[in-house]
Amino acid sequence: MHRLDIKQKTDIRLVDISPDFWYPIAWSKELRRGKTIGRYFGRQSIALIRPKRGPVFALENRCAHRQVPLSKGTVEGDSVKCCYHGWAYGRTGKCLDIPYLGKDENREKIINRVRSYPCREAGGMIFVFPGDPEKADKVPFPQLAQVNNPAFKTRQFNPSVKCHYTFMHENLMDMNHQFLHRRQMGQIRARYLGGETGEDFVEARYSFARTGTQQPLAERLIFGKHTYDPNKIQPVEEVVTIRTTYPYQRLFIHDKDGDLVMELFAAYVPNSPSGKSCQTFGLLSVLRPQTPLLIDIIWPVLGIFTNRIFQEDKEVVEMEQRAWNELGGDRNREVFPIVNKLRDLLINNGITH
Ligand code: FES
Ligand SMILES: [Fe+2]
Repeated sequence: MHRLDIKQKTDIRLVDISPDFWYPIAWSKELRRGKTIGRYFGRQSIALIRPKRGPVFALENRCAHRQVPLSKGTVEGDSVKCCYHGWAYGRTGKCLDIPYLGKDENREKIINRVRSYPCREAGGMIFVFPGDPEKADKVPFPQLAQVNNPAFKTRQFNPSVKCHYTFMHENLMDMNHQFLHRRQMGQIRARYLGGETGEDFVEARYSFARTGTQQPLAERLIFGKHTYDPNKIQPVEEVVTIRTTYPYQRLFIHDKDGDLVMELFAAYVPNSPSGKSCQTFGLLSVLRPQTPLLIDIIWPVLGIFTNRIFQEDKEVVEMEQRAWNELGGDRNREVFPIVNKLRDLLINNGITH
């Protein structure tokens, strides 16, 4: 079918995210040495195993014997032992031992295996490649905000949200929803400066005009005082760029000199077989101010501020999902061109059944 035809008939909330990318499925700190945890990537149940020594590995989270989750097992050396009959699997997914069979029988019976996933750890997150493993080396690994740049301080956030991942992309790209955040941000209005699209990305740029005098503390500490003059068009003090480069989303804030002052990386990873929930893996990097201690002073304020805003976003996208459930499909009437472009991008790069 032609791409355009697909688009017209496709309900975006039924489009699966493409598995042929690197996705974070856990934070590094969640998995201690000698332990294993289970996670979902969509319908795929995945066990992450961190041996006492050596890197993390990822296996299909179902024992080949009776499909019990391997994440309930125990880690021994470089293998994980299923909790039920103790079959042991190594990092390639090959079954290495069936403890109740004798040595010779054992050797013959060990043809069993589970799937293994390419796995990498970066930026405090554990990534897997859930698609075609042949592609894993060729697909670019994402740039993780400024997590390795000492000029920036980076904060992690990881809310789990009960909605299809596409609602999350739309929410951030569409800055016209500042009305929702009026209690946190004061009265500001997004001014759309333009956008760009390509095969695998959609970008929108905005500046913000304050329409009331009140400016939140966190914003003021980071960007300085913004004056408000109702008789003047406000100058562009900073440019906010939101870019979905499939399947990730990024936000950049550049000051009026064009210097980067804030960068956000976000992956919205479907984490249940229904596709109606996702886990956000977010990194927010903030340029350290000239006064070194200032960042530590504003950090908790920034945390509360971003959490509150995120809470409002979470509530509203979950309401959107509930409406989709109740109405049995997508009834959106999107009017903002760049958001329509984003919807096309997510449909064309995703998996339509
Ligand atoms: S179910 Fe895993 S060893 Fe039997
Ligand atoms: Fe928002």
